[in-house]
Amino acid sequence: MDQERLSAIWARTVEKLKEVVREFRITEDELHEAGRYFDRLGQAGMCRSLIDVALAMTSVDVVSRTAGGTRPNLEGPYYAVHPIRPDGNLLEREPGADVPRLRLSGVVRDASTGRPIPGARLDFWQADADGFYDRKGSHLRGIVVTDAQGRYQITTVVPNDYSEHDQDPIGELFRAMGRTNTRAAHIHVKVSVHGESLLTTQLFMPTSQFLNRDYVEGAVSDDLTVKLESEPPLPNGTKLYRATFDLAVAPRMRSTAA
Ligand code: DHB
Ligand code: FE
Repeated sequence: MDQERLSAIWARTVEKLKEVVREFRITEDELHEAGRYFDRLGQAGMCRSLIDVALAMTSVDVVSRTAGGTRPNLEGPYYAVHPIRPDGNLLEREPGADVPRLRLSGVVRDASTGRPIPGARLDFWQADADGFYDRKGSHLRGIVVTDAQGRYQITTVVPNDYSEHDQDPIGELFRAMGRTNTRAAHIHVKVSVHGESLLTTQLFMPTSQFLNRDYVEGAVSDDLTVKLESEPPLPNGTKLYRATFDLAVAPRMRSTAA
């Protein structure tokens, strides 16, 4: 960040925070308590998460949104380098027969022309049915590429609500405020065309109990919540759902496909 921008942002931030100190007549002891809290937050490596929780969606809506395009959403902390899944299957191991499976498909389109975009890369990652991300391997992670008609399809599980902050300073803060620190179940997707990343968003599951109280402020919206349709169960009785979700992106180079 250049010096002028940094100085201007710092000055304005301090000015805004002074207003808060005056409004609540915050004491020096309370300021020091906040300082000790931020020390703990940093030692736990959680500063980025707290900034995301409070502010990332405002940035995303103001900076990353494109006209007519799918609403972007925060990247979150668990993006990684993923393998290509030629058959769209994100499962590296079979979960229990009681874990509902999901076939998600759709079309990637140019937001300005509505034309499908073949060869778009969609990078997916999500939590499992217990709300955990695979942070060592690539289970429930992977890249698929749209076909000649701009279509993609993945096979995965229905993710669950997510809370890994119960034991860390973020959980401590949210508990102290009487709020939950749970994220509504979602699937992350990043779309790139010709090597250029055009959209990072999240698709929310209608099965979530936390759609109206996701701890990331402003993350959940109706336009990013998929509809799950029941399909006939798999031969072993496992539940299967289908969902479609089309994505609209704004390529810098107009797509040439018909
Ligand atoms: C956090 C976790 C997520 O999966 C996400 O998408 C955003 C934020 C978090 O731990 O703060
Ligand atoms: Fe996430």
